[in-house]
Amino acid sequence: MGNQMELLEINLIRKHLSASNSKLEKIIILEETSSTNDYLLQQSLSFDDVPLVCFAEKQTAGRGRLGRSWYSPYAQNIYLSFLWNFNKKANELFGLSMVVALAVVTALKDYGIKIGLTLKWPNDVMWQNRKLAGILVETVSRADYLQAVIGVGLNVSMEQRNIPEINQSWTAIAEIIKAIPERNKIAGLLLNQLFDYVTFFQEKGLEVFLAEWQRYDGYLNKELIFMDNDKKIVGVGRGIDSTGALLLATANGIRKFCSGAILGDK
Ligand code: BTN
Repeated sequence: MGNQMELLEINLIRKHLSASNSKLEKIIILEETSSTNDYLLQQSLSFDDVPLVCFAEKQTAGRGRLGRSWYSPYAQNIYLSFLWNFNKKANELFGLSMVVALAVVTALKDYGIKIGLTLKWPNDVMWQNRKLAGILVETVSRADYLQAVIGVGLNVSMEQRNIPEINQSWTAIAEIIKAIPERNKIAGLLLNQLFDYVTFFQEKGLEVFLAEWQRYDGYLNKELIFMDNDKKIVGVGRGIDSTGALLLATANGIRKFCSGAILGDK
C-alpha cells in the first residue's frame, strides 16, 4: 500500500482549502526533518510570518507529549506544524490543544469518518479506543505576544505489522476506511478546520467549545484510571472546565487536573 501513496503537493493541498482560508499563504513541505515542531521553533520568525504551516514526509526525531517519541516513517502519515500568534496569557493557551483536537475530529468527519471518533484528554484523537492522532502544542514568549507551534501527527496508512516502536494501541485511516487514503485531501481538510477553530479560539477562548468537547469525550461519565505524576487515581470522568482542566469525580470529591494522563478504562 505504501507505494501507492500520494506524496504531499502544495497545489493538491490548496485545492481543498476553502475560500476563507486563502490567507494561508505560507505552506512548506519538507522531505525530511527532525521534527516539524522543531523546524518552526528554530526559525527566527517575526510577527508577520504567521500563519505558517510546515509538513514533512518523514521525521527523524518526531516528538510526542510527556517526552515520548512519535514514530514518523516516510510518506505514510501526516506530520504537520502550524505557527500562530496569540495575544493571550500562557495559562489561557492551555485549552488550545483541546480545540486543535476538535478541529482534527471535524476534519476527519469531513473526510468521511462519521462514527467511532472520540477524544481522550487532553488531546488524543481516538477511533474505537485506538489512537489515530496526537497533538503537541509548544509556546514561545515573544516581546508582547505568545507564539504557539501546534503539531499534529495523524496516522494515515501505516500498517500494524513491523512496528514495535509504538507501545500503545493505535489505528490509521487506511485501516478504518479500508481504502488508500488521499493524503493531500486530508491535509487540506485538516488545514481548513485548524485555521477556523484556532481563529475562533483566538477570539472567544475555550468556553465556546465545551459542549463540543463533551460530545466527543470518550471518558465522560466513565470510570477511568488517571496517572498524576507517579500516582494512580481512580475516578469518573466529568469532562473539562472552562480552563481545559480534566474533572474527575473521586472518592474525595471532584478533582481538577492540568497535567497527567488518562491510562484507560478502569
Ligand atoms: C502525542 O500524542 O504525544 C503528540 C504527538 C504529536 C506528533 C506531531 S507530528 C508533527 C509534530 N512534530 C513533532 O515532532 N510532533 C508533532
